[in-house]
Amino acid sequence: MAAARPHRWLRWPESTAPRGSGPRLAYGADYNPEQWPREVWDEDVRLMREAGVNIVSLGIFSWARLQPGPDEWDFAWLDEAMDLLHANGIAVDLATATASPPPWLTTLHPEILPVTATGETVWPGARQHWRPTSPVFRSYALRLADAMARRYADHPALAAWHVSNELGCHNIYDYSDDAAAAFRTWLRDRYGTVEQLNAAWGTAFWSQHYTAFDQVLPPRLAASHPNPTQQLDFKRFSSDVLKGYLRAEREVLEAAAPGIPVTSNFMVMGESRGMNYADWAGEVDFVSNDHYMRPGAQALDELSFSANLTGNIAGGRPWFLMEHSTSAVNWQPVNRAKAPGETARDSLLHVAHGADAVCFFQWRQSAAGAEKYHSAMVPHAGPDSAVFRSVAELGARLERLAPLTGSHRKRAPVAIVFDWESWWACEQDSHPSSLLRYRQEALDWYSALLSRGVRADVVPLGTPLEDYRMAIAPVLHMVTEERAKELVRYAEGGGHLVATYFSGVVDENDHAWLGGYPGPLRELMGIRIEEFAPLQADEQVRLDDGGVGTLWSDDITVTDPRVEVLASYAEGPRAGQAAITRRQAGMGSAAYVSTRLGAQGLAGVLSRLLASAGVSGELPPGLRGRVELAVRVGGGAEYWFVVNRTAEPVDIAGLGGELLDPAGAAGGGTRVLPPRGVAVLRHPAG
Ligand code: GLA
Ligand code: GLA
Repeated sequence: MAAARPHRWLRWPESTAPRGSGPRLAYGADYNPEQWPREVWDEDVRLMREAGVNIVSLGIFSWARLQPGPDEWDFAWLDEAMDLLHANGIAVDLATATASPPPWLTTLHPEILPVTATGETVWPGARQHWRPTSPVFRSYALRLADAMARRYADHPALAAWHVSNELGCHNIYDYSDDAAAAFRTWLRDRYGTVEQLNAAWGTAFWSQHYTAFDQVLPPRLAASHPNPTQQLDFKRFSSDVLKGYLRAEREVLEAAAPGIPVTSNFMVMGESRGMNYADWAGEVDFVSNDHYMRPGAQALDELSFSANLTGNIAGGRPWFLMEHSTSAVNWQPVNRAKAPGETARDSLLHVAHGADAVCFFQWRQSAAGAEKYHSAMVPHAGPDSAVFRSVAELGARLERLAPLTGSHRKRAPVAIVFDWESWWACEQDSHPSSLLRYRQEALDWYSALLSRGVRADVVPLGTPLEDYRMAIAPVLHMVTEERAKELVRYAEGGGHLVATYFSGVVDENDHAWLGGYPGPLRELMGIRIEEFAPLQADEQVRLDDGGVGTLWSDDITVTDPRVEVLASYAEGPRAGQAAITRRQAGMGSAAYVSTRLGAQGLAGVLSRLLASAGVSGELPPGLRGRVELAVRVGGGAEYWFVVNRTAEPVDIAGLGGELLDPAGAAGGGTRVLPPRGVAVLRHPAG
């Protein structure tokens, strides 16, 4: 994990006074006034005030407007927008505007366009069509960032800088010649000599031995599976390059506009995996995240998981929800509109996990362009709409929640360890199964904990675990010797470690640990696996405790008499062999789950593991699974966010506390959360 910069939050302009100058949660959206005639701007700021908006992100896709040619600049319209917002008490998170290079630039310098693994050019016509390693792109982009910083450093509306936009969303992997050259430099830094690289990449295999760095390429289209360590290093490199790019823009901003916090919107969501955000977090003054719901049974759990992980990447400190949607998006196969109450529920669930800002993409729904069917705060229908009314209502609720501004996440009893490198490595090609989904396994454990009413922190690998009673490491595929020692120390010191199938399999070079799996965790677990036995997509295997496994099974031999077999395979070639094990280790324990049980199947196993670890749910049994509890703490108070996960009313009278926001639940003795409702209960900090 990266060493974090000191946390620095928004610099609220003094004039955001209409709504008071005390602590406040930020509320707003991406604002793209360049898409609208000037007269619409006046309605925009009027409606923003009506909705309680106090911040907007401005200029994100404005490069073509701001710099119409290599030496032409047009800031007048942006000056006017900044002034107008300021006059209306709305702060600005100002973009560096470098996200989407204008047509004149790609015409003049087509060599900035990315190239795919199959050698095709990624043409302009959409956005983010630039090579992260292009020195030409970088010089133009940094010049723009510098021009923005100089022009607006002292503007009174400026609250933060927004570097580029969702770095890596479309351009994380580029296989161009620029990328090849930068990759070689990165490899020289990592390995020093070509022989070290040969050793790390295992190039004795398939006659891949290199005699000079110049011979090394990105993993472009090849005749069969490219070298796995080459692929893994290319992923590491690609994440590092964009992190370096973020740093380069930040340094320009800091030089020209010292003292203004810098952020960039991450995408901790779904299957966005290319950017190692645990490693990036040290580059920003505060962490920002974008999140969009995916349809499906775990949609809400996934939101909670992402918000939780974001909060922990941010070190438990407040973070900025830069984008989510008021209703449908436009980029899924079928784009679902949100049901009444969902916009507020989704927003407040992010706040529950530490967000001190709730922002949307975008303020006013575009009339033209690829995102015209994406919802916004002001929809096509205009302000006379359910969406805008819910937006204004949410603004009012966030004002009432102002007292919790600045509070931190309260540590949970259980950690789920999340590791980008294991994610990258375990899903590479040429593996026992192409069906394995790293993040899904982690999410299943999270869902199972939610259903037991147990709070968990989803933490990046490397987070100290000592204060967690239990640490679950789903598919901790890549384990270095040092990490393995830490995990052994954790368990022996009283922690309860749980690992799953395909954990402890490779080292940092993606070389298999020898002598049986799970490699350096073998002794700790007290088991030895000689062979993996993944299951076909339509196959399943019954366990003798009634559970049903899919995806995976292992050929487990118990090697330590202290191992307790919690469940065995009940059928198939491994019938009678251990499937789930647990071993006491020092003052703690180590458990291994060799198959995929899914969110529901895990709930049963988890009850037993939690009981032996002495972790009990904080919610009364009747509320478990029906509501999510997330807790923030600060200023002598605990803020209990109680989120109705169902479409039925739920009585939460038993949870006590002072109701911070009367819209959250009916007050008095019979406190009832409406369907999809969220209540915030203030308790004295205990
Ligand atoms: C991303 C981008 C936005 C917009 C939204 C649409 O988050 O940053 O510009 O495209 O997706 O969901
Ligand atoms: C072929 C090749 C071998 C090996 C096997 C793997 O037979 O000749 O080198 O790759 O496939 O199944």
